[in-house]
Amino acid sequence: MELRGLRDDVYRRPLATALDRLGISPGWTCVDVGAGGGDVTVALAEIVGREGRVYAVDSDPLARDEVAEAAAAHSQVLAITQAGEDLRLPELVDLAFCRFLLLHVVDPAVVLARMAGAVRPGGWVVAQEPITSAGRIDGHPFSMPHARHPDIGALLPSLARDAGLLTVDAWAEAPAGAGPGPVAEYVTLLTEVDPGDDPVVLPPLVTVVAQVPAP
Ligand SMILES: C[S@@+](CC[C@H](N)C(=O)[O-])C[C@H]1O[C@@H](n2cnc3c(N)ncnc32)[C@H](O)[C@@H]1O
Repeated sequence: MELRGLRDDVYRRPLATALDRLGISPGWTCVDVGAGGGDVTVALAEIVGREGRVYAVDSDPLARDEVAEAAAAHSQVLAITQAGEDLRLPELVDLAFCRFLLLHVVDPAVVLARMAGAVRPGGWVVAQEPITSAGRIDGHPFSMPHARHPDIGALLPSLARDAGLLTVDAWAEAPAGAGPGPVAEYVTLLTEVDPGDDPVVLPPLVTVVAQVPAP
């Protein structure tokens, strides 16, 4: 299985928790920023249905093809090549979502502010970002040297506050396992090292569910 599909599998529960907490429903308009292969986009599209709309935004033009393939059955998905720093949509949306994005961007505060600006007053911003070094393989911390901000999850609540958002809920959630299974496979694909029977706690995802203040 590819890393993308495995991420969808092992981090499915944190995503489900966030969507449940949010109370997203059919007809919502959403943007998934840093959509990648479109796992979150498809999850959102399945909920908002044909009366809703999901913009899948990514700075990598290849992501547009991947999302198009993943969301082929969902005509409500519109894939756009755009940097989060320049986020501009044809309408204000009900929800701006990002997962595993802010750890890679130059200035997470700029992207979060653009996401907040894309949402209607009273609408929602949800961010799910890791604390990479809080993950463990056989008791040893994970590292992600190629990420600009590997522990950005730890700062997420204050980033949301500084973007002028009202945090309604925030928490951390991490998949864990020992021995063969999706958690071990995910580590192998991510690090090229098979953890064998060693216990693994994947990097926890901090979720912030926040609201754009109504005027
Ligand atoms: C690790 S992937 C996460 C994909 C998806 N959100 C998920 O959780 O499965 C990060 C994605 O963010 C995109 N990305 C990185 N920097 C970006 C930026 N400044 N603006 C928009 N997308 C960006 C990358 O091209 C990549 O597709």
